[in-house]
Order: sequence, then structure tokens, then C-alpha cells
Amino acid sequence: MGVPKLDPRPAVHVLADSAAKERLLRSALEPAFRILPVPRHGLEPGAGEGRLAVIDVDLQDVKTVMHVKGMLPVLKSLDRCVFVVDRHIKKAMIQAHALGATNIMFNPVHDLRLVAMLLGDGEGAEDGSMESLGLEGPVAEAAKAASAGQKTLLALFSAVTAGSPVSPQAVEEAGRAIADNIAETSLTNWLDTVRQHHEGTFQHCLLVTGVAVGFGQLLGLARRDVQRLATAGMFHDVGKASIPLEILDKPGRLDEDELKVMRSHPVIGYDAIAGTPGVSEEVADVVRHHHEFLDGSGYPDALEGTSISDLCRIMTISDIFAALIEDRKHKPPMARADAYEIIRGMTGKLEAPLVAAFRDVALKA
Ligand SMILES: [Fe+2]
Ligand SMILES: [Fe+2]
Repeated sequence: MGVPKLDPRPAVHVLADSAAKERLLRSALEPAFRILPVPRHGLEPGAGEGRLAVIDVDLQDVKTVMHVKGMLPVLKSLDRCVFVVDRHIKKAMIQAHALGATNIMFNPVHDLRLVAMLLGDGEGAEDGSMESLGLEGPVAEAAKAASAGQKTLLALFSAVTAGSPVSPQAVEEAGRAIADNIAETSLTNWLDTVRQHHEGTFQHCLLVTGVAVGFGQLLGLARRDVQRLATAGMFHDVGKASIPLEILDKPGRLDEDELKVMRSHPVIGYDAIAGTPGVSEEVADVVRHHHEFLDGSGYPDALEGTSISDLCRIMTISDIFAALIEDRKHKPPMARADAYEIIRGMTGKLEAPLVAAFRDVALKA
């Protein structure tokens, strides 16, 4: 018996829940890698140089998720673990992250991108938007900050979903990167980049953070308050991690019961972060009260006038504006000038001098 010939290709562990998916992954990976199954208990020494894996399973299937969960210690020990998910199932991204994904690839699998994800340094690929690679100048800088922001949001939302503690330091850092980017380039550049590369709630949170920071900078707020706005922008809708997607993504109007569920998100978010070391009271307050109006018609506490903090008033305007200019599947983005007109029309609900100052953010920044 001769000595088996050594295969020079690095190993990659593959888990797929159908023969068709496995075939696809094999044909993408085999030119560059040796394919091994994902072991249930620990990687063999030497079997995992590079310690890589690709997982393509249905994360909406409870049994499958439990199966993958059983492999969590192995998955968490990997250097690179790419989950293949469907772009339109946002919860899948959150779940993949909770299951140890270091990178997300959206279906359909792109052979070269997958190989690049496994072999490259992975920067900018975490959100699956490889389009952001190869860019230069201010757009590339914004794309990098947005990608880091989205990564932090994923971690944040999956922590809230799992009921585990959130990391305020990571949120603060991501907020700072966004604030720096907007100070150095422009809000317009930030908004365009985020709308092109990010989706759903994450797009919304990144937009809100950018708008609130741009607004705070324009108002000449102290650096510390601008940083609070950045952190609060990242956190503000974290309670939506617990709202069913059928409600979050419903294209039409919500009925009364759905509205009630939707309107629970500020309290869920507040409960998740209040008291967490490193999260200031001011930030937690904004998370709870970003849907309050000066005339008492908002929720959850129907606050009025002076009981709503300044940071919160700034956030409410930024939140409404960001929601209007979002680029979503069922709703084309509204022009910034039109969105500003809607905000200007909300007399009595928002602080008039702030709305007047916001004009320059909405139309010029
Ligand atoms: Fe909200
Ligand atoms: Fe929001």
C-alpha cells in the first residue's frame, strides 16, 4: 500500500440540506478546496487548516436550525463560516449570525465570490454586498462604515432575539465611524451608499443614525451629544428584533392588532438595553420615546411637551425623515424635498424651530 498522496488544497467543511445544494457548493468550491463534512464535535487537528465552512440550509426550518445549533461549538471555532441565505428573509441573516456566521452570501451562490469570501480578508463582504468592494474615495469610506454598522446591528439584533446581553461598546464604535464619515464627506453620500447596499430594518437604522448625526452636527451640538445621537440611532428600533416579519414587512396598512404589536417595539428595545452597563440613560430614553409627539398623541407613554428630551425630539424628526426616504421593495424612496414637506406639515407634533433647522439637513447636507 502506498502512502496516500497529499492534497494541497485547503479544506472547507460543507453542510447543505439537499443534494442539489451540495452539488452546487461542490462545483463552486472543488477547484480550490477539499470538501469535508462539518463534524459534530470539534475539528480534527490538521483537517481544518484555515478552519473554513460553508453552510447552506433552510434557516426557517426549526429542525434544521436545532441541528445546526448542535454544531455551534464547532462553528464558533472556525476562522471563516459563510452562511448562504435568501436576500429577502431578513431573519435568516440574524439567525445565521447567531449560529456563528462570519460572512453572509446571498442566494444564488456566486462561485468566485464564495471562494474570495473564504480566502480573502473578508472586509466589506460581511453583508454580502461585494459590490462595495472595488469602490474608491468617499463612497468606499461610507460603504466601509455602513458595513461595520450593519455587522454591529446584526450582532445587536441577534443578541436581543436570543435574550443575551448587548455590547454597547461595539454600537458606540460603529456610531462613531458613521459620525466621522458624515463629518468628513456628506450626509448625501452616506444616504446614497446605505440605500444602495442595505435593506429593511438595517437600512432604516443606518439611515436614521446618519440623519440624526448630520442634524446634530448642523445644530452645533457638543461632540458627546452627537455621539449619543449616533448610539441612539443604532439602538432606536432594536425592539423590532422581536416583531414578527409578517408585520414588519407588511406592504399595506397594519390592522389594529398588528399596530399594537408594532407599537410595542420602543418598550421592548428599552427593556433590552436599559440598565446595561455602558448604555447611558439619555440613550435608553431616546429608544423608549422616539415615537412620542409634543401634543401627547405619540406612544408608548403619550408624553407631552417638555417631558420629551431634546435628543429625543431630534431623533423623532430624523426617524420620520429616514423612514420616508428609505428604498424598500414595496415602496420607492421619496425625494428628500417631499419628505421634508411632510415633516413641515406635522404641526404641533414636532418642535417648530427644530423642523425649521432641519431644512438644511433635508435639502442641503
Ligand atoms: Fe421606531
Ligand atoms: Fe425607526
